[in-house]
Amino acid sequence: RFYSIIPAGGVGSRLWPLSRADAPKFLLDLTGSGQSLLCDTWDRVTALAGPDRVMVVTGRTHRRAVCEQLPHLGESNTVLEAQPKDSSAAIGLAAAILEKREPGVIVGSFAADHVIRGQLLFRRAVAEAVALADAGRIVTIGIAPTEASVGFGYIHTGEPIDSLGGRDSYEVRSFVEKPDAETAQQYLASGEYLWNAGMFISRADVLLDQMAQSEPELVANLRALAEVWDTPQRDAAVDRIWDSLPKVAIDYTVAEPAAERGAMACVAAHFEWDDVGDFASVAKLLTRGRPSDLAVLGHDARILSDASNGIVVAQSDRLISLIGLENIVVVDTPDVLLITTKENAQKVKSVVDLVKRSG
Ligand code: GDD
Ligand code: MG
Repeated sequence: RFYSIIPAGGVGSRLWPLSRADAPKFLLDLTGSGQSLLCDTWDRVTALAGPDRVMVVTGRTHRRAVCEQLPHLGESNTVLEAQPKDSSAAIGLAAAILEKREPGVIVGSFAADHVIRGQLLFRRAVAEAVALADAGRIVTIGIAPTEASVGFGYIHTGEPIDSLGGRDSYEVRSFVEKPDAETAQQYLASGEYLWNAGMFISRADVLLDQMAQSEPELVANLRALAEVWDTPQRDAAVDRIWDSLPKVAIDYTVAEPAAERGAMACVAAHFEWDDVGDFASVAKLLTRGRPSDLAVLGHDARILSDASNGIVVAQSDRLISLIGLENIVVVDTPDVLLITTKENAQKVKSVVDLVKRSG
C-alpha cells in the first residue's frame, strides 16, 4: 500500500553557476559518485517498494534529462508540470492521482536533492513512519540540528509515541518553516527541536484533507486534475487549471497548520543527512575525514594548487592554479566563473538574483 513520491523541481540557486535552470541541483552529481542526487534518491526509494511504486514529479522542461537518468521510470509514474508551482502542488497532485488510482494508499514524499548515508537506518525510519501514517498521522523525519541554520524547517518535538512499538517516534508540538536567525539560535539552544529532513509520510487522503483545511481551492483543483489524469481529458484540464495554482511550499500548507492541529508526528532519524545547499557543504561531503584538503569536483579537472580547505569545481578543461589561498570556492564553467569563500557560499543566491535582474 506504500508509494514514494519524488518532487524534483527546485533549482538550488546557491549552487550557481553549477546549477542552472536547465541543470537544477537534483540532476547534478555533487558527491563525485558519478550519478546525480536524483539517481541516488531513486535508488533509495526503489529499495523501499520497487520501481513500480515511485512517482516522480518534475517540470516538462526536465522530462528528457529525467528519463535519461531514470531509465526504469514508467510513463504513468511521471507527472510533468506545465510550470513549477512549488511543493504543495507537486506533492499534492501526485497524492491525489495515487489516491484516485488506489484509495487508502500511503505516500512518502522524498526530496530529490539530499545526500543520505546509512540506507538501512533510512529504511528503518521510513518503516516506523509508515506505521504512524497508517494510524492517521502525517509523519516527518527529523534530524538532530548541528547549527542555527535558517534554511530548514524546525520540528518542536513532544512526548514519545511508543504505542506502535516504534522507538524513535514523537508527538509534534509545532513546526516552523525557515525561522529567522535569532529564533533558530533559540531552537538550537533549547535542544527540543529537530530539522525537517524534507520527507513527509502519510495516507494520501489525510495529506489532502489537511492541505484542504488551509488551501481548499488548491486541493479542489488538484483533485479535479487527478480525476481526469488517466483520461484523454488530462491536457485540457491542465490548460484550464495549472496557471491558477498557487506557488507555495508544503511546509506552509500542511506541516505548520497540521502541527497546530496535532495531526503531525515525527520519527527521529539516525542516518547521516545533508541538504548540500551550498558549496561549503559540497566541500564537506567531498573531503570526509580530510577537512583540510582541497575538495575537487570534476572528472578531468587539472588543478595546480597549494590552497587548502576550499573547493574547486571544474567543468572546463582549463588548467586552474591557486596559490596561497584558504577556504576558497572556485567554480569554473564554460561561460561563468565564480570565485568566493566558503564563509560566503550562502550569498551565491543573491548574485543569481542580480544576474537574473540584469538579464
Ligand atoms: N516537482 C516540483 N515542482 N518539485 C519541487 C518544486 C516544484 O515546483 N519546488 C520544489 N520542489 C522539490 C525540490 O526539488 C525538493 O526535492 C523538494 O521539493 C523541496 O523543495 P526545496 O525548494 O528544495 O525546499 P527547501 O530546501 O527550501 O526546504 C525544504 O526542505 C528542507 C530540507 O532540505 C523544507 O521542507 C524544509 O522544511 C526542510 O528543512
Ligand atoms: Mg532543498
